[in-house]
Amino acid sequence: MLVLGIETSCDETAVGIVEDRFTLRANVIASQVDLHAPYGGVVPEVAARAHLEALLPTIDHALVEAGCGLSDMDAIAVTSGPGLIGALLVGVSAAKGLALAHDKPLVGVNHLRAHVEVAQLEFGALEPPLAALVVSGGHTSIVAMGADGRFRQLGATIDDAAGEAFDKIARFIGLGYPGGPEIDRLARQGDPAAIDFPRAMLHDDSYDMSLSGLKTAVIRYLRKLEAAGQEPDLADVAASFQEAIVDVQVVKTLRAARDEGLERVVLAGGVAANSRLRARFADACEREGLGLVVPSIPLCTDNGAMVAASGANLLAAGTVADLDLGVDPNLPLAG
Ligand code: KG4
Ligand code: ZN
Repeated sequence: MLVLGIETSCDETAVGIVEDRFTLRANVIASQVDLHAPYGGVVPEVAARAHLEALLPTIDHALVEAGCGLSDMDAIAVTSGPGLIGALLVGVSAAKGLALAHDKPLVGVNHLRAHVEVAQLEFGALEPPLAALVVSGGHTSIVAMGADGRFRQLGATIDDAAGEAFDKIARFIGLGYPGGPEIDRLARQGDPAAIDFPRAMLHDDSYDMSLSGLKTAVIRYLRKLEAAGQEPDLADVAASFQEAIVDVQVVKTLRAARDEGLERVVLAGGVAANSRLRARFADACEREGLGLVVPSIPLCTDNGAMVAASGANLLAAGTVADLDLGVDPNLPLAG
């Protein structure tokens, strides 16, 4: 069973091809990073136009990489949400056209679920029940995946997503876009204990988090130094800021897993590419005797393989879409 997956929810035009749910045959990404970099963030109209230009060549490239043609596919899967509406529409419209022209089933994929399910390409079938931390540019939540494969939300950020916080602080201190990898790099030369930034809601009863106060604290710290005519050590700022985010994610996710009796934790989404987050989770899960599933970095950030993998699961379960499939910019992960 071959499934082609199309991902256009944000700023990567990406196409993956997966065979029999678990084998990656192709994973091609046409990145728009250079287009958005001058603006310091994703410009939705620019993203949609760039998807339109890049999508068909990217599909061709993926087919060549997999050594097959569209007629060999068993389904066309596409991210239908959440994401930028114009960007999503480009992918969904193209997928519908291909499905119709080649008489293939169409499968609508939830981008957030796909971030979790991509792990099956490297680790085999996920074995629920498990906990998943889904951390990306627009989303930060802790969910439980039940034995029936359904997600139940345990907690989420009440304000900024983790990736959004990384990107905003990176921009404030003059690093490039996207900011997460830049902070990750700079933080390696800094001391994570240098500055005691706040960890909001760390010890409350919920699994929710708040990251906007942390962002404000970093900005206030830098402005205070500036007013005093002092130069900040930006590596220490990056390391201490990153440590505060990572602390909150580790503490809340592990507590949720423990309380819910979940023995495995999956890290998913672009921020799961963060080296400190990966290392701290590895230590904490080992200490607590929990299994940890972390996809390799190229499968954490947005890609087409994740859409093909999730689409293959849906196809295997008989869940296919009609040609009137719509897009939902706010599609939730759970429910
Ligand atoms: O999942 P993703 O590729 O796109 C969305 O679905 O949003 O996540 C993108 C986010 C961006 O905010 C980016 O800065 C962040 O993931 N990110 C990182 C790292 N790599 C990507 N954040 C921290 N450390 C990284 N190494
Ligand atoms: Zn994503």
